[in-house]
Amino acid sequence: MQFRPIETLLRRCAADGPLFEVSTLVPGRMLVIGSAEIAHEILHAPPATYLAGVANRRILPLLPDDTVLTLDGEKHMARRRLLAPMLHGSALEGLAPAIAQVTAEEADLWPTHTSITMLPRLRFLALRLAANVLFGIETRHDAEVLEGLVSRALPAYGMLAGSHSLRRLRSLSPQSLTGRRWVEFADGLRDLLGERHPQVTELVGGDQLFALLLAAHETTAAALAWSVHELAREPEAAAAIAQSREGQRPWLDAVIEETLRLRAPLIDIVRTAAERVTVAGRSVEPGTLMLIPPPLIHREGGGDLLGFCPGRFLAGQPDPRTWLPFGGGDRRCLGASLALFELRHVLPLLLERFTLQPATARSERALLYGTALVPERGARVRLTPRNAVF
Ligand code: HEM
Repeated sequence: MQFRPIETLLRRCAADGPLFEVSTLVPGRMLVIGSAEIAHEILHAPPATYLAGVANRRILPLLPDDTVLTLDGEKHMARRRLLAPMLHGSALEGLAPAIAQVTAEEADLWPTHTSITMLPRLRFLALRLAANVLFGIETRHDAEVLEGLVSRALPAYGMLAGSHSLRRLRSLSPQSLTGRRWVEFADGLRDLLGERHPQVTELVGGDQLFALLLAAHETTAAALAWSVHELAREPEAAAAIAQSREGQRPWLDAVIEETLRLRAPLIDIVRTAAERVTVAGRSVEPGTLMLIPPPLIHREGGGDLLGFCPGRFLAGQPDPRTWLPFGGGDRRCLGASLALFELRHVLPLLLERFTLQPATARSERALLYGTALVPERGARVRLTPRNAVF
């Protein structure tokens, strides 16, 4: 699964149909849904039939229990209402100049005329953007300090599955280590932000910010990396975007939507059945983890859906029943507008600056990195400055 996650899911779905059981390191019963119709039924079921917070705690057992990702019910809605203004509307309006500045600063450092790996570079760019929005961090230096704090806090998150059994290690358990890392993360963040942004830490303490950063960072980095990977293979679309003006970029939206379809950054949307339910004629017991993998739903029906074809979205927006990169229902990604805003601003800036060429003819397959799907070779491309004089 780790190395060929999408191929494995497609094979199982072809063999066993749109509802099949899997066993992984995560304890308990798990069903995978490979049909948009069943996925819609689950994501839009009456409240409290399926729980996302319980499910997130099961696949990310090291997250605290009281974050927007891990809560359910009224407490979850209250947390969403608190955080939403940071990620929508006027909060985004003022972001374009910061995105332009950060993107230019980063792109200045990238080698040209040689093949390079974009994923780590775009991961840092995505971290700088998230740091700017969530914490008001503006300089590269402060973002590097934050990167250090994140990487020290994150190793324990690599030990995701089955870790309940490790609780008996007590002070040496991943839970306890992670608890200490949160404290270190929150302390480090407080030192870094100092008096500059007291409202940030007051509004949403260290754990909340860490959960948001976790949700925002790798997903956006993967989306940027896959977009660059695909655009390197679509020179006409890339040129059309580079030559177009803001507000008049049909190819840009089409490429982003198609990238999020074929190269969905998250392996699955998760829910736990809170009661006995019947799904596709099958009785499902309470506590079953339901996995809805966008890569499977987005390829349902096969044929031309297996290939990258941004033209399919030139005529109209994707259908939310079959296009689920951000999940759906009342748990749909809270950062979707922010992520799309970032993609819509960063990609044209890169394309105005560089032409992209793939480093290898063969497209990169997806590799599982935590719960994110990233290009197996890190999106290797060759950048050439546009208008370069040879
Ligand atoms: C391209 C980038 C991104 C992708 C593909 C993505 C995808 C997703 C998905 C699939 C979910 C689960 C939705 C569900 O359960 O129905 C989710 C949840 C969430 N995402 Fe994103 N995400 C992205 C970027 C971001 C960003 C930039 C933020 C900003 C902080 C963010 C914050 C969140 C939060 C807070 C949740 C939990 C929402 C809830 O449970 O109520 N995401 N995301």
